[in-house]
Amino acid sequence: MITTAVILAAGQGTRMRSALPKVLHPVLGKPMIWHAIHSVRAVTSDNPVLVVGHESEAVIQFVGDQAHFAIQVEQLGTGHAVQQAEELLKGNADQILVTMGDMPLLREQTMQKIIDMQTGHSGPITLATISLDDPHGFGRIVRDATGNVLAIVEEADATEEQRAIHELNAGVYCFDADWLWDALKRIPLSQKGEYYLTDLVEIANADGLSVQAYSSEDPAEMIGINTRVHLAEATSILRQRINREWMLAGVSMVDPETTYIEPGVQIGADTMIYQNTTFQGETQIGERCEIGPNSVIVNTQVGDDCRIFASVLEDAVIENRVDIGPFGHLRKGAHLAEDVHMGNFGEVKASYLGKGSKMGHFSYIGNADIGEDVNIGAGTITCNYDGVHKHKTEIGKGSFIGSDTMLVAPLRIGERSRTGAGAVVTKDVADDALVVGVPARELKRNKKDNQEDT
Ligand code: UD1
Ligand code: CA
Repeated sequence: MITTAVILAAGQGTRMRSALPKVLHPVLGKPMIWHAIHSVRAVTSDNPVLVVGHESEAVIQFVGDQAHFAIQVEQLGTGHAVQQAEELLKGNADQILVTMGDMPLLREQTMQKIIDMQTGHSGPITLATISLDDPHGFGRIVRDATGNVLAIVEEADATEEQRAIHELNAGVYCFDADWLWDALKRIPLSQKGEYYLTDLVEIANADGLSVQAYSSEDPAEMIGINTRVHLAEATSILRQRINREWMLAGVSMVDPETTYIEPGVQIGADTMIYQNTTFQGETQIGERCEIGPNSVIVNTQVGDDCRIFASVLEDAVIENRVDIGPFGHLRKGAHLAEDVHMGNFGEVKASYLGKGSKMGHFSYIGNADIGEDVNIGAGTITCNYDGVHKHKTEIGKGSFIGSDTMLVAPLRIGERSRTGAGAVVTKDVADDALVVGVPARELKRNKKDNQEDT
């Protein structure tokens, strides 16, 4: 039994009041449509068909080869939208799962249940229903006295009595494909001038076929996003869902209400996350780390036993037992080896700091390659930019850079060398040398075989 999904996303989304197409608005860092595609992909064997409007270049570009596209030039309703997928799917799928691009919270397990119910059903439709205190905006599920589903009545067309119904159409369906392609052609034009997918329920009944409903116990997952208020509500629900999973997997959170973990992030057991902390993108965090409060980690790999306090890390790699903050900033290409300590107000970009090196206070390190056990004194700066090009600084292992040293790149400092406080180093420094002053000159050099001063 082959089930393929059709995701409807051709609506204008005018209530978002945005230049961005509705389904590209992010829920925890990923566009709504990413969530919709990701979850249907887990329960179907082929990429879904995404029905988009004629001005959807941005959506098509974002989704790329994750879906096939059917263009609905005029928005003539949800039934008409599904019809646009017929050409791509007729003969290729036994069942069609229909979902909406603006339902980012819909769970894989729920869709799997609906598919399985339809597979075991003699009629052509299984649909999801929810019960809400406030039914406003939804199609009402009309049943007969014995509980058979007879119709879905849209709010605008509902009688007073039907409006009082609290069992509602969620907008998720699984259809028998052969029946669907034929029945879509029989949907009448509504008073609003649209072809409602929901009319298929009455058409099935008229064919003498039964319609089955799956009643979801979790109405939250059926939230369809129409406004930015819904967007914030959905973000909050997804955040709680993800945080709960991580806590059950062994990650502690002091305050899950202010902890934001995007889908796709990985976190090791016994890591502790303090309040107001965000993990984004392809971030991976090791075991037994302590992170936050007030930290943002983006596309960064963090080893085990690291401590990151009130800091921002972007596109960086830090190995085991690294300690950062408060107020550290790692930028693209920063790589801190094991046991590095980076204290207050440091910034590192496109640089490697060797094992055990320390930069305690107020330093900028850019385009540098720093050996093991180097001490970077307070206020040290790599002057890496001459206004046109970036230049490299190399510092050999065991060197000691005095406070407030300016390292004017391109520059190489040898192993076990020292710079005096306030030195402005413009020329390469040999191994075992001491340089001081502005511009820095060599004051003395230690014998290689004897590390003491001569
Ligand atoms: C629809 C259902 C309603 C259900 C509700 C659940 C119909 C007629 N009504 O109403 O019973 O309770 O969803 O949220 O189906 N779309 C297209 N092309 C179109 C029209 C819509 O692709 O021509 C897409 C939209 O982008 C959206 C989805 O279909 O993702 C639903 O459309 P929308 O207009 O929001 O339907 P509702 O009025 O909410
Ligand atoms: Ca809707």
